[in-house]
Amino acid sequence: MPRAGDRGAVRARWLGTGLLGLFLLPASLSLEVSVGKATTIYAVNGSEILLPCTFSSCFGFYDLQFSWSYNSSDTFKILIEGTVKNEKTDPKVKFKDDDRITLEGTTKDKMNNISILLRNVDFSDMGKYTCHVKNPKENNLQHQATILLRVVDKLEEVDNTLTLIILAVVGGIIGLLIVILLVKKFVAFIIKKTQEKKKECLVSSSGNDNTENGLPGSRAEEKPPTKV
Ligand SMILES: *[C@@H]1O[C@H](CO)[C@@H](O)[C@H](O)[C@H]1NC(C)=O
Ligand SMILES: *[C@@H]1O[C@H](CO)[C@@H](O)[C@H](O)[C@H]1NC(C)=O
Ligand SMILES: *[C@@H]1O[C@H](CO)[C@@H](O)[C@H](O)[C@H]1NC(C)=O
Repeated sequence: MPRAGDRGAVRARWLGTGLLGLFLLPASLSLEVSVGKATTIYAVNGSEILLPCTFSSCFGFYDLQFSWSYNSSDTFKILIEGTVKNEKTDPKVKFKDDDRITLEGTTKDKMNNISILLRNVDFSDMGKYTCHVKNPKENNLQHQATILLRVVDKLEEVDNTLTLIILAVVGGIIGLLIVILLVKKFVAFIIKKTQEKKKECLVSSSGNDNTENGLPGSRAEEKPPTKV
């Protein structure tokens, strides 16, 4: 009887943890900031480059604060700062460090896009660009995502060939592994077959042994039917 009670208590605790998990889950997934898949972006000197940033919030938001900061080995500065009143309005820029920067995204229609465009890119613009988002609806929890900007003379195909080479090598290795696996399987199959054959040989030879070294009686008994 006490056992059943214990089990009930354990079950209640599991249920409790499960429910707690359900409550905690949205909090940890509520606000996410993303700069997309590429963590490094290349820009040609003198051109313009879009630094992407989007956020998502399953709770919704109001008076959301956002900013972009720049960090290189010797500099740290806030590039742009602003707020988004609610989900039906576009962002309002409150501060901008550089005229070359414009906010490009929109926060209407659940776009939640606060990307910036940097014009007339120069080599001195190289560094880390971090997009920060703070949502008062979530105890001012701040989230951020960082992108690395590299400035080059011109975009080269080198990266592509390197990727191709890597892909070819990886593909080759995978192919080789498959071949090795197949050969291994085949060899194992052959060995098994040979062993089976050997076993058959052993069985038949032991059969021979039996008839040769076996009891004469059994031999005598075996023989008459062939004679009849
Ligand atoms: C970078 O571009 C600017 C403007 O397009 C140009 O004046 C400058 O010489 C370029 N720098 C290099 C190192 O090519
Ligand atoms: C800027 O980046 C350096 C590393 O590159 C890091 O040590 C430093 O903490 C960063 N500064 C800020 C304010 O994020
Ligand atoms: C964000 O807005 C910019 C400018 O309109 C656009 O180029 C970019 O594709 C948008 N990003 C996403 C993820 O929608």
